[in-house]
Amino acid sequence: MIIQKGVLDSFAALVEEETGNLSDGGLKTGVDLGTANIVLAVVNGDNEPVAGATFPSSVVKDGIVVDYMGAIRIVRNLKAKVEAVIGRELTEASCAIPPGVESGSVKAISNVVEGAGFDVVNIVDEPTAAASVLGITDGAVVDVGGGTTGISILKDGKVIYTADEPTGGTHMTLVIAGYYGVSIEEAEAMKKDPAREADIFPIVKPVIQKMASIVKRFLTGYEVPAVYVVGGACSFREFTDVFEKELGIQTIKSNQPLLVTPLGIAMNSVRNEENIQKYRGRM
Ligand SMILES: Nc1ncnc2c1ncn2[C@@H]1O[C@H](COP(=O)(O)OP(=O)(O)OP(=O)(O)O)[C@@H](O)[C@H]1O
Ligand SMILES: [Mg+2]
Repeated sequence: MIIQKGVLDSFAALVEEETGNLSDGGLKTGVDLGTANIVLAVVNGDNEPVAGATFPSSVVKDGIVVDYMGAIRIVRNLKAKVEAVIGRELTEASCAIPPGVESGSVKAISNVVEGAGFDVVNIVDEPTAAASVLGITDGAVVDVGGGTTGISILKDGKVIYTADEPTGGTHMTLVIAGYYGVSIEEAEAMKKDPAREADIFPIVKPVIQKMASIVKRFLTGYEVPAVYVVGGACSFREFTDVFEKELGIQTIKSNQPLLVTPLGIAMNSVRNEENIQKYRGRM
């Protein structure tokens, strides 16, 4: 099942057209340092998208910053690009941590955002960010990104359980590359080409089934009314059908799955010292 969120389509249009929805009041900025993509999102005080930019990443691996200077450079460039679009300076931002990340890595993530010239006002957990955009308080959020799949269970708006698995879109690409005997780059392009989906999907389906069976193990023993999938690797049309069949739980995806977490980080970019202390491991 797909839910359409207008706010995600507006944000996607701003990113794609490199335009801004100009605003006078306070702005909230979110930075998502992903394994595959780094995304900067800006919303206004009413959580309406203002502007955004994205850049393909190879500087973060599964929540660990592997190229610190490279990561800072990318975030700095994204910041400058968005500032030019909206004609305003961005001074504060929030970042997010994927489920299961160690406190040392969290520090590195927030240091990158600081190194790019932001004052870090909040460190959000990714499932909470996604839940804000989807407007949910109960259920499991499964974020199928490039390198990792994060599994989180929310109850009454609080994250009560998280886990992560080193599987994601990269594994799908590897399977396609092996099947066709092509390079990773070619396989990646084939995977994202909607015109080839009918040929590609049967090849990646076993990877999705495996992901779903892992998710099922984690969810055992919890009361989960629905599973919400986000992240780029759930883009396939039939992704939710495979999950639903394996899990026996209604599985819901939104439009623009790549942008859910980044937009949610921006929406949660309100000063929160408690989170900063907690996630940086100083408590
Ligand atoms: N149209 C598409 N069809 C299939 N896969 C896609 C599509 N678009 C993007 N992807 C895949 O989604 C993944 C990137 O998703 P996303 O941006 O959510 O990951 P990330 O946040 O950078 O990574 P992580 O959360 O693992 O750190 C990549 O593996 C990419 O190939
Ligand atoms: Mg991600």
